[in-house]
Amino acid sequence: MEKKWWHQSVVYQIYPRSFQDSNGDGIGDIPGIISRLDYLEQLGIEVIWLSPVYQSPNDDNGYDISDYYAIHPDFGTMEDLEQLIEEAKRRNIRIVMDLVVNHTSDEHPWFVEAKKSKDNPYRDFYIWRDEPNDITSFFSGSAWEYDEQTEQFYFHLFSKKQPDLNWENETVRQEIWKMMNFWLEKGIGGFRMDVIELIGKEPDKGIIGNGPNLHPYLQEMYRETLGNYDILTVGETGGATPEFAKLYTDPERKELSMIFQMEHMGLDQQPNEEKWNLKPLDKVELKQNLSKWQEELSEVGWNSLFWNNHDQPRIVSRWGNDQEYRVESAKMFAILLHLMKGTPYIYQGEEIGMTNYPISDIDEADDIETINMYRERMEQGYAKEDILESINTKGRDNARRPMQWDERSEAGFTTGTPWISVHPNHQEINVKNDLANPDSIFYCYQKLVQLRKENPVLIYGTYQLLREEDPTIFAYLREYEGEKWLVCANFSEETRTLSLAENPTDYEPIVQNYERDSYDLSALELAPYETFAVKIE
Ligand code: NOJ
Repeated sequence: MEKKWWHQSVVYQIYPRSFQDSNGDGIGDIPGIISRLDYLEQLGIEVIWLSPVYQSPNDDNGYDISDYYAIHPDFGTMEDLEQLIEEAKRRNIRIVMDLVVNHTSDEHPWFVEAKKSKDNPYRDFYIWRDEPNDITSFFSGSAWEYDEQTEQFYFHLFSKKQPDLNWENETVRQEIWKMMNFWLEKGIGGFRMDVIELIGKEPDKGIIGNGPNLHPYLQEMYRETLGNYDILTVGETGGATPEFAKLYTDPERKELSMIFQMEHMGLDQQPNEEKWNLKPLDKVELKQNLSKWQEELSEVGWNSLFWNNHDQPRIVSRWGNDQEYRVESAKMFAILLHLMKGTPYIYQGEEIGMTNYPISDIDEADDIETINMYRERMEQGYAKEDILESINTKGRDNARRPMQWDERSEAGFTTGTPWISVHPNHQEINVKNDLANPDSIFYCYQKLVQLRKENPVLIYGTYQLLREEDPTIFAYLREYEGEKWLVCANFSEETRTLSLAENPTDYEPIVQNYERDSYDLSALELAPYETFAVKIE
């Protein structure tokens, strides 16, 4: 396998609105990010994925872009962004921009023009039909919106303020390549590509994801833009199976570095239903699923590794215990993920074990997906408590609460009024406390990031799941050039005894979440969420 810099780097995702405000307007901004680069350098990450900072009416918090070449004034200026790229580079950190090209905002000049008349030159930049079909939007309701003036429907897979671009139009593609090259020329480290699996859609045939033109478009993109730079690209592909993943990430095919597959994120919902229809996590399913991806992409392609992002609830609340075992379970998730093969992603606040923020009324919600679903389900007669339970378990606002820097009234995020309220637990859970405590979650993440820089076994080693059917032990081996590591977690709240070797031998921990000098693999007694890694050969 040809080695790439992004094989060993860890990526840190910043949701700019919620990271650090610098001017007291209650909205995080680019100067705020610059002021926290030393912190990120201390964590050791080498890449920042920046959620969108472009001009946008913010119907979907920046995932509805009205100008790809301008920075939203809430976040700062183009000079601020250039300074961020420079300042990050000085700390060996690259900036990966979010690329949102499945759709634009309806306030993008292309759509403003397109709406004017059927024969407008920009009409064909979007998807218009005389009659809608039954495709629905990911944000509830029909994917077709009627335009009174021109008496046709336009297609939008997300909100009606996010019309889908018509990728079949070559001029659209050329505009996108031009815009991507503009950003690449600024020295960015790559792109995270929003819902990229949707660009090959054929709505008339009901094909949304993985359309026939998807891979040809990505290869064209590579030829016209990506292939000229040494960058990291990651495609968001919610419907990807390992077979699809190989198509995207086999280097020979010249498409993407890696993708975000979402199978593990769907394990706590009813199969083939909406994410709001909850189901308890089956831990065996989780470890078998993650292991399947490890194995399937072992020869060809590359995995991304993540528990969190701005669309997902906080992992420690979701599948851990955010009360009694918050620190232990947060570290367990960290160790299990970062010692796998692939590029790990840390979502802001994950490194200090930030938790979900339950709401008791829909007025406290900000997210359009959440609010639309609430309205739809209320109309359909669902019980309010059930809807709120779904929101508190899965809603996107959970991850979007301001970063908790310290114990001050707005958690050190802003001196003004935050755009969305701060979690009251910031008085206890915050960066300042974690930095002051050598046993904190932060230092566990810092260690894991460092381990990847020093141990090729973690980057290129094979992966083997142990005790496949064990309901609560998640254990695996990594092996490379005669070196072998064992990673073992008690993914439960009960003490577990087990034996992973015949002969008693003590191994020193490389990383762990309980204080213990050594581990005898022939007779292990693991406390709730106890997790460790040892080198056994
Ligand atoms: C995926 C993004 O992560 C999400 O936040 C957004 O709402 C949709 N794509 C639409 O752009």
